[in-house]
Amino acid sequence: MKIEGSLFLSFAVMLTICRVEVAATGLLPPESSPLIRHYYKVHNTCANVEPFVRQQVKALYDKDKTITPKLIKLLYADCMVNGCDASILLDGDNTEKKSPKNRGLAAFAVIDIVKKVIEARCPGAVSCADILNIVVRDAIFFSGGPSYPVFLGRRDGLQSDAAWVDLPSPSISWETALAYFTKKGLNMQDMVTLLGGHMMGRTRCSNILDRLYNVSNTGKPDPTMEATTLSYLQKQCPKKVKLGQSNPLINLNPDNPTHKFTNSYYSRVLGNKSLLGVDQQLLYGGSDAYDLTDEYAKGIEDFRGEFAYSISRMGGLKVLTGNKGEIRLNCHVVNKP
Ligand SMILES: *[C@@H]1O[C@H](CO)[C@@H](O)[C@H](O)[C@H]1NC(C)=O
Ligand SMILES: *[C@@H]1O[C@H](CO)[C@@H](O)[C@H](O)[C@H]1NC(C)=O
Repeated sequence: MKIEGSLFLSFAVMLTICRVEVAATGLLPPESSPLIRHYYKVHNTCANVEPFVRQQVKALYDKDKTITPKLIKLLYADCMVNGCDASILLDGDNTEKKSPKNRGLAAFAVIDIVKKVIEARCPGAVSCADILNIVVRDAIFFSGGPSYPVFLGRRDGLQSDAAWVDLPSPSISWETALAYFTKKGLNMQDMVTLLGGHMMGRTRCSNILDRLYNVSNTGKPDPTMEATTLSYLQKQCPKKVKLGQSNPLINLNPDNPTHKFTNSYYSRVLGNKSLLGVDQQLLYGGSDAYDLTDEYAKGIEDFRGEFAYSISRMGGLKVLTGNKGEIRLNCHVVNKP
């Protein structure tokens, strides 16, 4: 518990430092500025939303430890595409949820359960976008990750379109990935840090088959992959996945089968043991990316603080506030006029 206190402090200090830099360097996305801590307490619309959510997430996490990586992915899929407006939660024929790029998304039920409880306690008060951000914060905490303040006051978007989904593929090059993050308002450090989300969770074999058998159409495995990792993964993911055969799910971080918060993702990058091409490229992203990877591999405390910070920055991308958007009553559908 002592550790949490000091982490919280270091994050608060870090935020203060960065606030000072904001004006000069534009470090925080400008859209995050309207968000505040304890928004629902300040506005007296749902003072206890955070304890309510935490209680629900605790119960759900106790039943299923994989909710954390799923929720982080959900937040990423929401915030990177048209901002953190819960548009990923909307149902419909041509919604973001229906994009083939979002096929693997899960944990929607977590949001539904929490939203139902919050609606019973504080009807029409708390946005789905804020609930998603609080739930992610709490799930990270229960997985052994940092405890950090969550900034609130987002409203929910009114539209969702599969065509907006521009999420990059897992075998993207470093340059393209960085250009993508930069376009969204994040920077190199955020990217290196947020890729650390691959410390836990699962992926489909189809995402790494090219690296295992035919990298860049050479007909050979990726020569940069460490040998025992390669043979281990080739066993997990056979070359020929016949039609109708399942596309196996494998742990993104084989060192972390229980999906805890860890920095071993970064040691694996340094050891050429990453699964996804985009992860392994941290080694080749230039000296700053390398130094950060090395720093995180050596010190989990640094990683904890920076992960909290970059998740918060991502959670502040292009948010709707004031009279924009709405507070959705049901996260699956926009309110009736
Ligand atoms: C590798 O991929 C390319 C392009 O998809 C394909 O033409 C080629 O036959 C593959 N090579 C092997 C050995 O599977
Ligand atoms: C990782 O691969 C690079 C070449 O791609 C090599 O220079 C480096 O020594 C390897 N590191 C380890 C720990 O094997």
